[in-house]
Amino acid sequence: MPKTSLQKQTLFSQPIRQAPQYIPTVQAPVYRASTIIFKNTDALTQRHWTDDYDYSYGTHGTPTTYTLADQIALLEGADHCLLAPSGLSAINLVNSALLDSGDEVWIPDNIYDPNHAHLNALNKKYGIILKVYTPTDVDSIEFGDKAKLIWIEAAGSVTLEFPDVIGIIKKAQAHQVLTALDNTWGAGLAFCAFDLDDQHLAVDISVHALTKYPSGGGDILMGSICTKNRTLHQQLLHMHALQGISVSGDDVAQINRSLPSMSLRYQQHQNNTQMILTYLVACTEFAQVLHPSLSNHAGHAYWQHICKDGQGAGLVSVIFKTEYDLKKIQQFCNALKLFRLGFSWGGPTSLVMYYNLKEMRQCSTAHLADGWLVRFCIGLESPEDLIEDIQQALAQL
Ligand SMILES: Cc1ncc(COP(=O)(O)O)c(C=O)c1O
Repeated sequence: MPKTSLQKQTLFSQPIRQAPQYIPTVQAPVYRASTIIFKNTDALTQRHWTDDYDYSYGTHGTPTTYTLADQIALLEGADHCLLAPSGLSAINLVNSALLDSGDEVWIPDNIYDPNHAHLNALNKKYGIILKVYTPTDVDSIEFGDKAKLIWIEAAGSVTLEFPDVIGIIKKAQAHQVLTALDNTWGAGLAFCAFDLDDQHLAVDISVHALTKYPSGGGDILMGSICTKNRTLHQQLLHMHALQGISVSGDDVAQINRSLPSMSLRYQQHQNNTQMILTYLVACTEFAQVLHPSLSNHAGHAYWQHICKDGQGAGLVSVIFKTEYDLKKIQQFCNALKLFRLGFSWGGPTSLVMYYNLKEMRQCSTAHLADGWLVRFCIGLESPEDLIEDIQQALAQL
């Protein structure tokens, strides 16, 4: 123990033992900070929070958060990355940083619903103009003079239509409209949002709910916002600081720990999904099975074009025939033993959720059968066991 003349109550408010500069461990040490101590007044006056590696205050960043931000930027093929406490807060940061009163924003019909709800709120509060387009039809987008931002989701939420990502970006660029992709499904693995074709076509912003595959545990919430353009990054960083957005060092450390296994897990989720998909397609209870790899799926050709190795997340939806009413759908969900009833995806446990299609869409649903929709989020269990679970639950109807 170091000798000291300090009183115990003083002693415990100082770090007793400082780590040497470098200790070789597999995982980096975890920094938790609200206060960051400046060496002296020169260090205080020279720092600036808009510098990428500024250490000023916990909300701006620590070596732990900067490590994850760098890794996510690498994963997505971007140059800059900001972290937010959830995927939804990352989405909201983009909306609130970029949209001013009277601006027009476009969203696909199959967008993650809370993003739609946030933009609806901005519409009511600040007069932001909200327009909805059909993700597989670029012609359904007609930018007005005040168009500022268009959201893309590939594949879209719940019904999983795959958008014409390249067509949408080209049209947006021609009208100087910023493109923001919710890249949670592709996770930076199925395709590169910042290098989509041989002309290196790129989105302006990629938002990722790290809650899903990067975390992989079903236990941590976090989001990221990636960009290549430095001015855009600074604009987002400014709002990030103004809103006091920050993430816990411990949560970040969990994701730093999960990242090395992410591509293996993603591949396994996908393999399991393909096996279960083959089973679902053969079931007579369903009017339609929804997955971008199916040749009759809306946007299948766009998926094939972008996801060159046939990659994709572990999500598949089915539409039950109309004879299965709400009671029967609930009975089915309750009868499942391995699939648990819950939102989110990307964790080890398979999940199920049911939706009323009719309440969800504004654009044409002619490509979708009538009936209750059930979404399966395929986890890391044995696909044979998962198929048996669906089989036994269907048998009870
Ligand atoms: C496509 C998509 N984007 C964003 C989110 C939001 O992520 P979070 O749960 O971290 O807020 C979700 C959550 O389900 C999602 O499915």
